[in-house]
Amino acid sequence: MSQLMSDAQVIQRVLDHVDAKTTDLSDTIWREPVENYRSQERFEQEMELFRRLPLVYCPSAALPEAGSYVARTLAGVPLVAVRGEDGVVRAFHNACRHRGMILAEGDGNARSLICRYHAWAYGLDGRLRYVPGEEGFPGLDKDAHGLVPVLAQERGGLIFVTIKEPISSGALEGLPDLIAPGQAVFEYSSFEDDANWKLLLETSMEGYHIKALHNKTFYPYGFDNLNVVETYGTNSRIVFPFRRIEKLRDKPVEEWRADGMLTHVYQLFPNTRLAILSNHYLLVILEPVSVSRSRWVIYRLRTPAANETAEDIEKSKRDAAFVRDNGVVEDREAARGIQQGMAGDGNTHFTFGRFEKAAVHFHQNLRAHLDMLAQR
Ligand code: FES
Ligand SMILES: [Fe+2]
Repeated sequence: MSQLMSDAQVIQRVLDHVDAKTTDLSDTIWREPVENYRSQERFEQEMELFRRLPLVYCPSAALPEAGSYVARTLAGVPLVAVRGEDGVVRAFHNACRHRGMILAEGDGNARSLICRYHAWAYGLDGRLRYVPGEEGFPGLDKDAHGLVPVLAQERGGLIFVTIKEPISSGALEGLPDLIAPGQAVFEYSSFEDDANWKLLLETSMEGYHIKALHNKTFYPYGFDNLNVVETYGTNSRIVFPFRRIEKLRDKPVEEWRADGMLTHVYQLFPNTRLAILSNHYLLVILEPVSVSRSRWVIYRLRTPAANETAEDIEKSKRDAAFVRDNGVVEDREAARGIQQGMAGDGNTHFTFGRFEKAAVHFHQNLRAHLDMLAQR
């Protein structure tokens, strides 16, 4: 299904780039108007687009069993996703059909969703099951007062939710299976930054800033401006190689393994990325809060070993802490710094160069989708 290169092909390409002091390049540069990062009107168009695309809601592993639920806003819309008794994940508007109280908060496991206000109770399939003092609601059609569903699709270890009639299949096009069954969430976090969602997302779309921004964190282990970048559908995959990959030159190709040599970063259009790191997977969803503020929704996953020890889990946590406390802190600072700079008129546009191929691909797709939306 996916046209992505094999690990051996990627490794060969990396070694060729090391020899030639080159990197993968975009065909074109891209000039993005600064106004597109600070205009309220543009932000609202983007949110309308978000509601008409399948967006990553959470990993399948966040809903491990019947009754597992996750509630959060998606493109500003409060939703709850829940795995039913039949194993199917469904998603609903998170609003009670009596007088609209939010039904679920955070995550957990429940046999049914019961409203805190007057205790109307809904099944995991969204059906209204029980109304206390039903005689007070003469003629109430219970079948017509189930939770209002939105489209939920489970694909490759991810739950995608589409709020309104979709205009495109978005990230689902050519999506490889990314998260293997059996992976479990070992850490969840969520926090906000004062930066437009695109500024935060763009920080992981190129390796042109490794030496400058990550001089003491990633650069000692990785190359500057040396990436393999593949695009497929609206998505892309960027590979960041470690310097130790050069050791593979002495080994036969059959023994080449990506583990510990390459970090794969999948960009899932429009607002999600999945980084495959040495000892864990890092799923980052950027939920826009306003034109200048965004919420990070972060899941860290790993496959528990057969004879799992506390040390195995610690290793993943140490890995996670290194990425979080070093590289990601620097990326967040950069995005917030751009947001601060945008308060003035120092720029009419930002220029993405040929090294920033995945960012160019992202902006080409975002513009094409917004145009599609405007023509409807
Ligand atoms: S608002 Fe939910 S039961 Fe009344
Ligand atoms: Fe970075």
